[in-house]
Amino acid sequence: MAQSETPLLDELEKGPWPSFVKDLKMAGQKKAMSRDLLRQLELSYKERIGHWKHGGIVGVKGYGGGVIGRYSDRPDLFPGVEHCHTMRINMPTGWFYTTKALRTICDIWDKYGSGMTNFHGSTGDIILLGTTTNNLQPCFDELSEKGFDMGGSGSALRTPSACVGPARCEWACYDSLDAINDITHTFQMQLHRPMWPYKFKIKCSACPNDCVAAIARADLSIIGTWRDNIQMDPGAVKEYAGKLDIQEEVVELCPTRCMSWDEKKKELKINNKECSRCMHCINLMPKALAPGKDKGATILIGGKAPILKGAMISWVLIPFLKMEKPYQPIKDLALKIWDWWDENGKMRERVGELIERVGMRVFLKEMGIKPIPQMIRTPRANPYFFWWPEEVPQKPKSA
Ligand code: HEM
Ligand code: HEM
Ligand code: SF4
Ligand code: SF4
Repeated sequence: MAQSETPLLDELEKGPWPSFVKDLKMAGQKKAMSRDLLRQLELSYKERIGHWKHGGIVGVKGYGGGVIGRYSDRPDLFPGVEHCHTMRINMPTGWFYTTKALRTICDIWDKYGSGMTNFHGSTGDIILLGTTTNNLQPCFDELSEKGFDMGGSGSALRTPSACVGPARCEWACYDSLDAINDITHTFQMQLHRPMWPYKFKIKCSACPNDCVAAIARADLSIIGTWRDNIQMDPGAVKEYAGKLDIQEEVVELCPTRCMSWDEKKKELKINNKECSRCMHCINLMPKALAPGKDKGATILIGGKAPILKGAMISWVLIPFLKMEKPYQPIKDLALKIWDWWDENGKMRERVGELIERVGMRVFLKEMGIKPIPQMIRTPRANPYFFWWPEEVPQKPKSA
């Protein structure tokens, strides 16, 4: 038997988890690009270094983003991946597909690309992994004819994404799917044509469980919540009482300690004024408890990864906003943020870093939002306050 060309990667066909090496080999039966990708990857495993050249700027007509250009630094050894560009295709919100839609994408990608994909990129896009510069435009044209559009890349609005929300989750406090679909359509210009200091991401989770991790992975995080009382079915609570130690597992784990449990009467009480809507009790007793009826979302700002000034988790900007079609308040807010960031942001400065640089005081003033206690975890510990000149009483001029 001939010696395998990829002995290191072959090891990764063993074991119980679905093997990407097996999948790549399958794609390689049809496409030289996938075969060479596997061979180049083997070299990278051996040398422990990537074999892609730095950067790459390619695209389709009319758009400034959506394609990540990439070239092998060893085209002499791996001619199949001399070009190996990635196309980001905007996924349907919540990643719900018909087999027909997937078949359509596969047929087009089989024709123009490597046959390799990533379902999905971390931001949410369908990732079509590997094609040549010449194939970009015709591939995009055909996808576009079938109703698919490019996702975002570069210093632009990136592809917005949402949790499955009300499609199949009883905790959804607003229609995260509709909101993201609407926002994506409204801001197509900002998505396809980079015009800002840096990237900007929007994510919608319909409750604080935050299944798309909006708080950590979006500059503008929209997280569902409610402002009235948790809905309770006392009969269903009693049923849980047999299976669950409500005192220990629910009441004592409530972060604000706002619940009490009467073991004798099997009665649960919630002091809703003190509830921070953490979801714990609801998560544990989904048949008995549910979010309230007056629903909306908390709007948070600034989430980002470490580069440059350290990782940030989005922080509260608006504690409660109704999220109803046509979502005008959140769209107006986004436009205002972008305007201000565009004027004041440094090159490659995320909006969270800009706010950190100039201060929430300046940001809030520009946004026309009043500072409130919910925006902070604790008040500042140092005394270096700044004041607006108009806040400081002036001495009368000539007394
Ligand atoms: C035995 C010597 C000294 C004592 C006991 C002393 C004591 C103090 C005290 C009690 C304060 C106020 C701290 C506070 O705000 O809580 C202070 C502030 C200050 N001292 Fe001294 N000091 C001494 C020497 C010096 C010297 C030699 C200099 C400069 C050459 C100096 C410069 C300052 C300055 C600039 C501040 C203001 C700091 C600020 O605003 O944060 N001190 N000092
Ligand atoms: C490169 C040189 C210097 C730097 C970077 C510097 C930096 C600073 C900073 C950051 C503060 C605090 C400002 C604030 O509270 O908002 C400060 C306060 C102060 N500095 Fe300097 N400083 C320098 C030189 C000097 C020198 C040479 C002196 C005196 C001979 C001096 C005297 C003071 C005093 C007295 C304060 C306290 C002012 C107050 O409490 O209102 N500094 N400085
Ligand atoms: S974030 Fe909340 S509403 Fe959305 S899917 Fe997760 S649990 Fe359900
Ligand atoms: S949602 Fe969280 S804070 Fe509110 S009552 Fe339940 S456990 Fe307590």
